[in-house]
Amino acid sequence: MLKLVLLVSLGAANAYVWPSPQLDALEALRWDQDRNGITGLVQPCDFFIFGPANSGRSNAADWIRTAYHDMATHNSTDGTGGMDASIRFTEEQARPEDIGDGFSNSVAVLQAVSTRYISIADTLAVGLILAVENCGGPEIAFRGGRVDAVEPNIPGVPEPQQDLDSHIASFSRQGFTQTEMIGLVACGHTMGGVQHDPFPDIVPELNDPNSTESVVHFDSTHVNFDNNIAIEYIAGTTKNPLVVGFNDTTNSDKRIFGSDGNATMQSFANSPDLFASTCADLLGRMVDTVPAGVQLTDVITPLPVKPAKLQLLFVGDTNTIQFSGEVRLWDLAEGANPIDSVVTVSGGRHTATWYIFDHIATPALAALDAAAGITSIHYTVDNKLEDQDGVGFAVADDVMFSTSSCFTSDTGSEATGIFHIAVRAGVDPTRVYLEQPTRDSVGRPTTSEIGLTPPTQPDSNATYVIWSIQMPLVFTAFTVGAEIDGVKVTRGVLTSMIEFDQCPT
Ligand code: HEM
Repeated sequence: MLKLVLLVSLGAANAYVWPSPQLDALEALRWDQDRNGITGLVQPCDFFIFGPANSGRSNAADWIRTAYHDMATHNSTDGTGGMDASIRFTEEQARPEDIGDGFSNSVAVLQAVSTRYISIADTLAVGLILAVENCGGPEIAFRGGRVDAVEPNIPGVPEPQQDLDSHIASFSRQGFTQTEMIGLVACGHTMGGVQHDPFPDIVPELNDPNSTESVVHFDSTHVNFDNNIAIEYIAGTTKNPLVVGFNDTTNSDKRIFGSDGNATMQSFANSPDLFASTCADLLGRMVDTVPAGVQLTDVITPLPVKPAKLQLLFVGDTNTIQFSGEVRLWDLAEGANPIDSVVTVSGGRHTATWYIFDHIATPALAALDAAAGITSIHYTVDNKLEDQDGVGFAVADDVMFSTSSCFTSDTGSEATGIFHIAVRAGVDPTRVYLEQPTRDSVGRPTTSEIGLTPPTQPDSNATYVIWSIQMPLVFTAFTVGAEIDGVKVTRGVLTSMIEFDQCPT
């Protein structure tokens, strides 16, 4: 058993029992903002990856609008449409109701972090949550498990030239009351604005060096998620082009905000806290609006102690296992003395502290007895045992890469990889394969499998037997997969042959 002794103390109980491949991945995307690959795109909040700093646009605003347009096709009566990433289809993006390049921009960067455990729709939901949270807005509860559509949804996104009754009917179809409609529009329109290019009848060409894409913003703090959208509207100082636009037909925010005699907007103007809590609730419900039959997970809160990137490698020469990985401690108590870097995450409200353990820092991990194996780990944190209430943090030692894997470059420019996967004697998988992330015909993340061959004459005394494959070396990353008793399992971290040595000649 491994012990990691740290003089720190911790708070909340675990949200789920680790490991769970899908929940681990969703939790990391939502909470590991220093390493999820997308949070940096909404820090700072005026960052716009597709244009210069003075374009007037921001990724954050695009991500919030994209999530809304993906959801807005929902029909709460027949259960069709909703957050299902149908907005990624060019047919949807070509509709007048989805005008502008904000959708293709957002989908391009967000879908890149989708995996077989994280749908594209989940990345769109997380995109909104990170944008709001990192730009001064509230934390929004996140559930995962959205399912990506295989075709466009039927149209249904409201447009500014439509009348109030159409908007009330449209939001009702989406599952929101008239008061909730006012709230949702105010929560969305605290960020960003209207561009000239897609809406020349609403916004003129500005010729403004600070807004090169001619964007008139909804409020004066358009990169802050705050209640200025309501304060400026109530004070009569707003420049919101959907309130004071020169063409009253397209002043949809004016009609919507005023539809209850300004009662809701007045309450938002009076109370930033009410605005924040209402937005957390409404935007949370918005991203949880999914087609009928889709089952979302429970709300995913950060695990107080979370192992990550665990990697076991079989060393045949010495019949040992090399073990490495990381553990993340969440929100260490004040006064704790972490021995590794502390990262501020999640809108600056939380800290994650990462500890790396490997055979270099801890030589004992270089050569665990393969015959004894390893079943689970636990940590001792501030003299308190962290073992998930006695369950431990399970580590599977049934199937793993073998360090005898190697690559050869002796056939000219074509290098060949020889992959060796060690399978614990007695496990008897029906299949062993390398797994590679890929996409299906409609862009959904999936996994391709490259089967390995079992040993022809396994050594009956061996602790592990070696399955193998020889193939042209492509420097893409693999995990190890196996089918054991009819169940598919995945082992190890995404790794590539580049980490292995050249074959002995
Ligand atoms: C009747 C309902 C709505 C109408 C008619 C409407 C209309 C518009 C229009 C015309 C734009 C300008 C887009 C551009 O220039 O590219 C816009 C931007 C935006 N909308 Fe809405 N909207 C509505 C509801 C919502 C809701 C419910 C949300 C989110 C909860 C939202 C979030 C946004 C955001 C964040 C932007 C700024 C995009 C950017 O600056 O790139 N909208 N909206």
